[in-house]
Amino acid sequence: MAKSLIILLLLLLHVSASFADFSLYSHFLKCLTKHTNPSDQATISTILFAQSNVWYPSVLQNYIRNARFNTSSTPKPSLIITPLHESHVQSTIVCAKSIPIQIKIRSGGYDYEGISYVSDLRPFVVLNLFNLRNITVDIQNDVAVVQAGATLGKLYNQIWKSSKIHGFPAGVCPTVVVGGHLSGGGYGNMLRQYGLSVDNVIDARIVDRTLEQNATDLVVQWQEVAPHVDDRLFIRLLLRPVDSKIVKGQKTVRVSVVTLFLGGADELVTLLEKQFPTLGLKKENCNETTWIDLVLWWTNYPLGTKPETLLDRNLNSADFLKRKSDYVQNPISRDGLEWIWKRVIEVWSIGFVFNPYGGRMSEIPSDATPFPHWAGNLLKIQYSVHWEVPGSVAEKNYTTQARRLYSYMTPFVSKNPRSSFLNYRDLDIGINTFGENSYEEGEVYGLKYFNDNFERLVKVKSEVDPENFFRNEQSIPVPPKK
Ligand SMILES: Cc1cc2nc3c(=O)[nH]c(=O)nc-3n(C[C@H](O)[C@H](O)[C@H](O)COP(=O)(O)OP(=O)(O)OC[C@H]3O[C@@H](n4cnc5c(N)ncnc54)[C@H](O)[C@@H]3O)c2cc1C
Ligand SMILES: *[C@@H]1O[C@H](CO)[C@@H](O)[C@H](O)[C@H]1NC(C)=O
Ligand SMILES: *[C@@H]1O[C@H](CO)[C@@H](O)[C@H](O)[C@H]1NC(C)=O
Ligand SMILES: *[C@@H]1O[C@H](CO)[C@@H](O)[C@H](O)[C@H]1NC(C)=O
Ligand SMILES: *[C@@H]1O[C@H](CO)[C@@H](O)[C@H](O)[C@H]1NC(C)=O
Ligand SMILES: *[C@@H]1O[C@H](CO)[C@@H](O)[C@H](O)[C@H]1NC(C)=O
Repeated sequence: MAKSLIILLLLLLHVSASFADFSLYSHFLKCLTKHTNPSDQATISTILFAQSNVWYPSVLQNYIRNARFNTSSTPKPSLIITPLHESHVQSTIVCAKSIPIQIKIRSGGYDYEGISYVSDLRPFVVLNLFNLRNITVDIQNDVAVVQAGATLGKLYNQIWKSSKIHGFPAGVCPTVVVGGHLSGGGYGNMLRQYGLSVDNVIDARIVDRTLEQNATDLVVQWQEVAPHVDDRLFIRLLLRPVDSKIVKGQKTVRVSVVTLFLGGADELVTLLEKQFPTLGLKKENCNETTWIDLVLWWTNYPLGTKPETLLDRNLNSADFLKRKSDYVQNPISRDGLEWIWKRVIEVWSIGFVFNPYGGRMSEIPSDATPFPHWAGNLLKIQYSVHWEVPGSVAEKNYTTQARRLYSYMTPFVSKNPRSSFLNYRDLDIGINTFGENSYEEGEVYGLKYFNDNFERLVKVKSEVDPENFFRNEQSIPVPPKK
């Protein structure tokens, strides 16, 4: 019994208006009042945070999720606007456009490169949607209406409160926010089944192996199985360099396996005995539980954690981090993998996540949606590094290592273009300065995120936003002027 929920997002509207030559704050105060529904005008002064406002630092920092962009030299918005009503969003766009001033839109602030709240084009303002987080779930019609600032955790929790047999296929981390997550695609551990929902039942398991224990065999077989096996099964691999527990002083690579199966444990064990014997899965390794328990388990809470935990937004918490992504279209050979392990050990600080595609992901034509990475992709790699020391020396160290491993991976991943996943924002793959070569600059990252759909997106852009008001470092450019 598969049921799915449809998510509707708060959309942004735009119109134009004229600019009065006041300071930014007074301009917005006046302009928002003029353009907001009378019933929503009373709160306008409470949604504007100029740099001089005592609350400005906490409003800014609460939704900074990458400590790289929480420094005194990080460019700061001149004003943060935190709408309480949809009409505030509309009037903010009108008022920003009337100046015009660069606007950045932040829902949860998890953008890996911070571009929802940082801009090199100054001055700029941030439209921050964290107050817009209402969710209504209509189980009768399989529909949920979700505002852009709601966390995935709140969505999962709300669905769970309405029904124990519904779910929604989105990301693993409950504090990530719907706005950015859905605008970049959004995937999770039900991606291979899609459409989703579960009677109850899900199995999960972690296995740790190292090279000495033939992790290579495991990864070779995983590549053959994971993208093609039963759609209800999602088997994720986590790979990272570790000190050997077997040979003292030696370095090795550890492979951990995390799995979601939308079915019972007996069925899973039988299935994998046949198709993935190298894993050696036994029934004791499985936990049969509800979907909501697994949502928590996947993000590292122990089984049995209360679903209310999903409502925690974890304000003002951030690591220093860098992420990159790749798609793999042909299985990597045993020799290739052995060579990669050596590079992983050499670079040392970077880990991989291998996410299998296939299933529903292979059925959708690549030109059906802006997201192009459907059929033909076996897996997506996420490169990840965290560090704890502030400052540019450490940052340079770790980001350089990430780029080095990414460069080593060139022969094994997609080519022409070398594809990337939009939600794994990576400014290394190209940025736009919106000068004369804006289109060519846009093509560089645009083809990687959108492949052949890029040109169509440029056409749409030229119709809906010919002035290029809505822009960021990696937005769709307008076509070149003839
Ligand atoms: C711990 C962790 C786990 C993750 N796991 C997954 C995962 O399992 N699957 C997955 O797909 N991704 C995953 N991601 C990536 C995540 O989906 C993206 O970082 C996403 O863009 C975050 O959305 P946000 O609203 O929190 O971020 P924001 O920084 O607020 O926004 C990201 C981008 O979207 C734009 N944007 C945000 N809201 C709007 C809006 N309402 N209208 C227009 N534009 C908007 C911003 O301007 C920015 O360009 C993960 C990230 C983290 C940190
Ligand atoms: C969210 O829901 C509450 C309660 O129903 C309501 O008072 C509030 O106005 C809603 N907020 C928005 C932004 O729609
Ligand atoms: C690893 O593979 C080698 C050769 O295929 C084999 O001899 C060895 O027993 C295997 N080790 C383990 C721990 O399975
Ligand atoms: C399954 O859950 C129980 C507790 O609910 C726990 O003791 C056991 O370790 C779990 N097994 C796995 C493989 O996670
Ligand atoms: C950002 O820096 C401030 C100090 O300037 C600190 O109080 C805050 O906790 C930091 N936030 C994050 C998310 O690292
Ligand atoms: C650079 O990274 C390595 C790990 O690869 C670490 O051992 C070293 O301490 C880091 N140096 C700095 C300055 O951060």
